Amino acid sequence: MAPREWDATTYDQMAAPMTTRGTDAVARLTLRGDETVLDAGCGTGQVTTALLERLPRGRVIALDASRRMLAVARERLGDDARITFVRADLGQPLPLAEPVDAVVSTSTFHWVRDHDALFRHLAAALRPGGQLVVDCGGAGNIASILRILEDLGETEHPWTYATPEETRARLDAAGFAAAETWRSERPTPLAPDELERYLATVVLGTHVAELGEERGAVLVREVAERMDEPLIDYVRLNVDARR
Ligand SMILES: C[S@@+](CC[C@H](N)C(=O)[O-])C[C@H]1O[C@@H](n2cnc3c(N)ncnc32)[C@H](O)[C@@H]1O
Repeated sequence: MAPREWDATTYDQMAAPMTTRGTDAVARLTLRGDETVLDAGCGTGQVTTALLERLPRGRVIALDASRRMLAVARERLGDDARITFVRADLGQPLPLAEPVDAVVSTSTFHWVRDHDALFRHLAAALRPGGQLVVDCGGAGNIASILRILEDLGETEHPWTYATPEETRARLDAAGFAAAETWRSERPTPLAPDELERYLATVVLGTHVAELGEERGAVLVREVAERMDEPLIDYVRLNVDARR
């Protein structure tokens, strides 16, 4: 299935939790400052901005499947000569002219169905010895929302929430030489009056796209009403690996 479009303008206004986690991931990259780094799923470019700060003499390839996300990222960063924008699907071989020194990806890989293929494509895009740093939803992510969705009869989900062990095996199989994978809990409170907009744009965006605006809004309201508190129980899968 092709990756969906996003409401990029609203996402950009609500991206603080993703930007905080993404900036933490960018800090884990080992960089001199002159490398070429792929931001795999750059979204609207807020985390890309933090990445550029670490690459004063380097380059960034900002890749995303969503036209609208890339349009907002271009508005934010398009004047910077260090950046190249690429529209591509991480589920397919990546259309990059040359291997990159590192890949960073934040809040994106759980939206990609086939992680075996994903890590193969990333290994092919990285130079030998290149670094891969990932933050994404992992096994146990948004468990309370999953329970509510199942109570409401929504049992088909668009996410791949992998465990650290499964991911280490996939990285080995894809040809990564050294890989550390771990989970972390990042419970994230939201302002009560922002909960529905956040659910509709970020967590349940694919459900809304598939159900249509009206039925999607009903689902979002029902989920929000059944939540104990306006808190997203994020559980992250983290990766630090070398090809
Ligand atoms: C939650 S946003 C994260 C954006 C950014 N990294 C951040 O932390 O704010 C997820 C992004 O992944 C992108 N994405 C999802 N599936 C993708 C795929 N198969 N290929 C490329 N990008 C994808 C979406 O278009 C979206 O921009």
